[in-house]
Amino acid sequence: MPAVYIKTYGCQMNERDSEAVAAQLTAKGYTLAPSEAAADVVLLNTCSVRDLAEQKALGKMAALIAETRHRRPNVVLGFLGCMAQSRGQELIDQLPDVDLVLGTQKFHHAADYLDEILSGSREKIVEVAEEDGSEATVREHLLDGRARKSVTAFVSIMQGCNQHCTFCIVPRTRGRERSRAIPDIVNECRDLVSRGVKEITLLGQIVTSYGKRDIPVKGGKSAFVQLLEAVHEIDGLERIRFTSPHPKGYGEDLIEAYARLPKLVEHAHLPAQSGSDRILKLMHRGYARERYVGIVEKLRRARPTIGVSTDIIVGFPGETQADFEETLSLARQVEFDQAFIFKYSPRRDTPAAGTTDQVPQEVREERNQVLLQTINEIAGRKYRGLVGRRVQILVEGPSRKNPARMTGRTRCNKIVVFDGSERHRGQLLDVNIIRAGSFTLYGDSDLPGED
Ligand code: 5AD
Repeated sequence: MPAVYIKTYGCQMNERDSEAVAAQLTAKGYTLAPSEAAADVVLLNTCSVRDLAEQKALGKMAALIAETRHRRPNVVLGFLGCMAQSRGQELIDQLPDVDLVLGTQKFHHAADYLDEILSGSREKIVEVAEEDGSEATVREHLLDGRARKSVTAFVSIMQGCNQHCTFCIVPRTRGRERSRAIPDIVNECRDLVSRGVKEITLLGQIVTSYGKRDIPVKGGKSAFVQLLEAVHEIDGLERIRFTSPHPKGYGEDLIEAYARLPKLVEHAHLPAQSGSDRILKLMHRGYARERYVGIVEKLRRARPTIGVSTDIIVGFPGETQADFEETLSLARQVEFDQAFIFKYSPRRDTPAAGTTDQVPQEVREERNQVLLQTINEIAGRKYRGLVGRRVQILVEGPSRKNPARMTGRTRCNKIVVFDGSERHRGQLLDVNIIRAGSFTLYGDSDLPGED
């Protein structure tokens, strides 16, 4: 049977989609190739959120074409996911050696389409139409390498976004919001837990809008909180995470859920995007800075050790130095544990891309550097503050940098590397933090703790 290699760009939803495609293909008898060079089929699962991500995938495909054209002309090449969705046929017009372009609502057809291409019954396939019910199709998991079981898993709960932030291409690549039913999601989570998973991350482009149109508010609880409660009931599940929420979805019911549901970890990824009210308005974010800060304060009151991470865009069109300083001041005020900073990248057919007051590239670059330094200083201080503390980690597997050591994650989403072994995989361990690096903690599980 053919061997397939899938390379993934972008967010956790893309990782999850790739995993589901890999599971679908292996169920049909395909094998997973260890590298592109050993593959009969190479699929790039793409990201469109910034131009850089698109250019990387396009460059990669051009290199694959150059490498395979003469020596391995039968290798099947495909684009999946967000860029496939937004560019469609255009990708084959640009790179005629590409065989398959499969959009975000069509992942579950990957095996059938590859069969058709490999058998020669169809030459090229471009499939980017909408499909009713596609939100419920990303269900298959690839968990069991024979010796090692996955401890953590992603579960897709909804697709799409109706928010229409003026910078963002996602409503175009992922479509309108569609949610899966609670029992369907709970069954998938239960099955994962029965296969050894201890931590589940619920995924969606805007999870706080989960079920808004289909599931009525019950006893003051939104559909998303009802879902959290239902997943929380699963015996054997230790931790629940979710990403990405929208700050304006943090109603009292969700804050209260943090106080009430112990499996919900002490971590919130709260994309702020900017600290300037003027820019937040232009971005169409639907909240002002004060409301954002209020949410963080309430979360910290509910869970004092909560880790707060964020996404910030610098150089949004019209962003002045004063606006940027508001963002710097937000970073100092909130003291994020981690922040992902993005230089604004104009995306096609988004309102902000068409405005005439684009910020020069070098200014975006400089603001990126300045903000990065501020974020790193604050986060560094926070990480060092954990040295000497005893924290619970869930051991995920060998450290990628140094496979002789093991790695786990704290409940507040910090990575801890420690001297452990395979037998620790899947265990909840208390470790003493003995050192802090940049965005990594080093732990020791043998020394007695301070508390
Ligand atoms: N330019 C730069 N960053 C962007 N993001 C989304 N769209 C853009 C864009 N056009 C960032 C936002 C979002 C994260 C996933 O990507 O910060 O939260």
